[in-house]
Amino acid sequence: MPTATFLPGYRKAVVPSGTTILDAARAAGLPMNVVCGGQGKCGKCLVFIKDGTVSFDIEDCRRFFSNNEIASGACLACRATIVGDVRVEVPAESLIQEQKILVEIPGMKEVPLKPAVWKYEVHLTPPSLDDTTPDLARLLEGIEGQEGPPPNRIYAPLEVLCYLPQVLRRSGWHVTGTVALVPGGYRLLNVDEGDTTGRLYGAAVDLGTTTVVAYIRSLTDGRVLATASNYNRQISCGEDILSRVNFARKSGLSRLQQLAAESINESLKSASDAGGIDLEEIFEVVIAGNTVMTHLLLGIDPSYMIAEPYIPVVRRMLSTAAGRIGIAAHRNAGVYTFPAVSNFIGGDIIADILASGMADRDEVSLMVDIGTNFEAVLGNRDWMLSCAGAAGPALEGGEVLFGMRANPGAIERVRIDADTLTPSYSTINGIRPRGICGSGLIDLIAELIRACVIDRTGQINLEIDHPRVRKGPYHPEFVVAWKKETSIGKDIVITENDIRNLIMSKAAIHGACMTLLDAAGLTPRDIGRIYFSGAFGNYLNKENAITIGLIPEVPLERVENIGNGAITGANIALVNRERRKALDGIALRITYIELNTEPSFMDRYTSSCFLPHTDLALFPHVQQMLEACRARQG
Ligand code: FES
Repeated sequence: MPTATFLPGYRKAVVPSGTTILDAARAAGLPMNVVCGGQGKCGKCLVFIKDGTVSFDIEDCRRFFSNNEIASGACLACRATIVGDVRVEVPAESLIQEQKILVEIPGMKEVPLKPAVWKYEVHLTPPSLDDTTPDLARLLEGIEGQEGPPPNRIYAPLEVLCYLPQVLRRSGWHVTGTVALVPGGYRLLNVDEGDTTGRLYGAAVDLGTTTVVAYIRSLTDGRVLATASNYNRQISCGEDILSRVNFARKSGLSRLQQLAAESINESLKSASDAGGIDLEEIFEVVIAGNTVMTHLLLGIDPSYMIAEPYIPVVRRMLSTAAGRIGIAAHRNAGVYTFPAVSNFIGGDIIADILASGMADRDEVSLMVDIGTNFEAVLGNRDWMLSCAGAAGPALEGGEVLFGMRANPGAIERVRIDADTLTPSYSTINGIRPRGICGSGLIDLIAELIRACVIDRTGQINLEIDHPRVRKGPYHPEFVVAWKKETSIGKDIVITENDIRNLIMSKAAIHGACMTLLDAAGLTPRDIGRIYFSGAFGNYLNKENAITIGLIPEVPLERVENIGNGAITGANIALVNRERRKALDGIALRITYIELNTEPSFMDRYTSSCFLPHTDLALFPHVQQMLEACRARQG
């Protein structure tokens, strides 16, 4: 079988002839950026063939790459198949990069520290002929004496009983017992020699389809001790949710379970190394993931979610011991997974809701989580409506000529001088631009409307006599960065086709928000707060999101970015047992609306396929702004 060697790291994979370079890269452990799921549509899986034999259609490449790039061996990893031994260079931009992690999460300081696990240091009186209390009873009485739970409420697993007598005697009857609150009472998780009360840790995890993020916190004072992220190793079994469920159906469930646990463990290990923490001292792990990810992690068959009548096996919060599912923490540590509402509104969205606090307030809030798919939730402490749909990859940089994920070199903010049409931009990590990520694309469209370069349908006005406004090889385009400013040796542009794709993505999200408002008998004026969550939540310009009609128009001070709500929610549920306890109740209060069968959604979507909308009365401030721009332009 041929060997594929991937540069610059010289990772190798031996694969059957006919394997795509993408699959070989996965086999070699390289997480490639496959925005379109490997369908040859996004052009983001660029690799360079250095030598060897591969087979591909050159026309597929011409759509995305320049003649110079093709002469250097450029091809699409998802389209090219391996014929013989091959050496392939994978540029950094073709790999999924680690997420930026904000070390302390805004707002966490206000969450009271009320963990569900405690350590009790006890000095016990040794037994004697006058005091023949058994070891366990002696220990539990000692724990009660330290303000712990009463002995009859604490369950002690057999494995702890098996090592208890040695630990008590070796330590001279000075031990620390770890006790957790579990459904139905308390559980004795561990007994250590001496005083270990200063070392009690917990982990919060966001188990995403693409990436995993982990936080390790001290549960004695709530501090963040370390964070880490890595990609989800299940990518080797399928890029998206559907392909993973299909893999599970073909006897792949235990493999996916193992890969989910390994992905979490990779993050936990890097974080524990960085924080100097022994994984054995992590006694609680709280995990937020979508419904399929949660099923797979727990080894529960998700097959019935993709066939009529599309039901999950379980929606409620589940708990199990870390050792049972292979999580790298103390083997008795409790692992808690967030509950779900439906196949599409999973634990990650419940975590968003927890992070936003919308379920605790009287005012009506709208929460929107944006990725390739989007989820929206509308409601307050008494009721909530939710829906989900496909936004398409455009807002994450897919189906956009120079679109890219929010990785180093991505243009993340843009302004355009309306008089000179000169853009000023900033890139992630401040390096030369390589492309434009979601927040930059939203800025760009808003600025192009303000500068009257595009109209409300997204058409570029080619009558403008300016070098940045030009015809382009396929579509009219606007030059955001000249070749000499970029790190890719070509002009970075946004084309009319890109703008059309972005309008369709934003229309799906806005249409969904309006459908929820309709169902609740409300209008945008009734929304007290809008929360953004998801990949670009932290970096999104709220004003520009409203200007393009991504979300309903409300006063700007009512819009809040909550960033990665899934990891924030997991952190909250880790440090505060009362908030964790409320999760099942939140999930039960949410009604799911299926957009595909909701007749008004299509109308709402079509009306939203304009900038910002066909009905400008819904966007009064944007309307004023547009009129002012037009007046300025004469
Ligand atoms: S992943 Fe290859 S073109 Fe999209």
